[in-house]
Amino acid sequence: MSSVRTTTPLVRILGAGIIGLSCAEELSRRGYDVEVVDPAPGSGASYAAAGMLSPHAEVWHGEPEILGLGRRSLALWPAYAGRLGVSLHTAGTVLAGLDSGDLQEIERQFALADGSGRARPLDRRELRDLEPGLGERLAGGVLLPEDWSVDPRALLRALLARTTVRARPSGRAAATTVLATGARLPAEAGGLVESVRGVRGEILRVRSTDPPLHTVRGWVRGEQVYLVPRADGEVVVGATTEEHEAPAAVTAGGVLRLLAAARELWPALERAEFVEATARDRPGTPDNLPLVGPAGTPGVVLAAGHFRHGVLLAPLTAVLVADHLDHDHVEAALDPRRFSVRISEGDTP
Ligand code: GLY
Repeated sequence: MSSVRTTTPLVRILGAGIIGLSCAEELSRRGYDVEVVDPAPGSGASYAAAGMLSPHAEVWHGEPEILGLGRRSLALWPAYAGRLGVSLHTAGTVLAGLDSGDLQEIERQFALADGSGRARPLDRRELRDLEPGLGERLAGGVLLPEDWSVDPRALLRALLARTTVRARPSGRAAATTVLATGARLPAEAGGLVESVRGVRGEILRVRSTDPPLHTVRGWVRGEQVYLVPRADGEVVVGATTEEHEAPAAVTAGGVLRLLAAARELWPALERAEFVEATARDRPGTPDNLPLVGPAGTPGVVLAAGHFRHGVLLAPLTAVLVADHLDHDHVEAALDPRRFSVRISEGDTP
């Protein structure tokens, strides 16, 4: 990282998940004096995340902004991963459906992904040629070659290895506080505290000698499930989605649903070693877009509310936060003040 600008006041980042640590890395590169604070670094949603860098497979109807943001961030990933020495899995993503209703869902997803230029429909045989471990009864799918993955835990290790994280803030005065605390915003967020809510995800990890070659996103009689293979044979099976007030806990029902759908998609799951079940809250927002930029309180900046897209959007978020500190840049669609302040015409957000 480059040397600290001696004239630059302290930037304090609350939250040492992938978002907070990525902001720390970018700000340090630009010469800011950065302090990262988290009593339990890397233990929130980043720890559970599957790590899909998958703008085309994760886009939902009515959310065109997230596709554009995801593509912009994906373009930053090779350099970002290279700096950190973290490998990307670039085989691509396969969408696969069991019955005709599931195939309709995939066609909708294909239409949304179209424009990436390289997405390609697959009939039953092409699907099994490409991913031989998939279930024989699958009806067809789509290949999304530009949808990659990364191991978020490897990323966390690389980021934490280059960042000192304090359990509590130092006594130094910070000119800027960046809030990157995941599914719960602290009091510093002022009137925006309630704009992020927890959306529970339960996720499994298994180990297999026959892992899928690609990330596989399946629709199994309407049930969605994804499989994300790692180089060492680990396969992540995810994830449930549930609005919840209670503390994050793995439920038997969640595990059952994931395993049942995943087994139809990938029969070798039967022989896989069960490694882990984890539950964490995703940071949801009212419009499913992140909050990146000024909170409306002087000196407070948000890097929050990334919902299903935190890993994908980490490098872009870091650049946007640093651009904001450098020259007040704010991305209008992500401006946190959309939930707190009515910006009158002519005002520059
Ligand atoms: N991005 C995957 C998930 O939220 O489950």
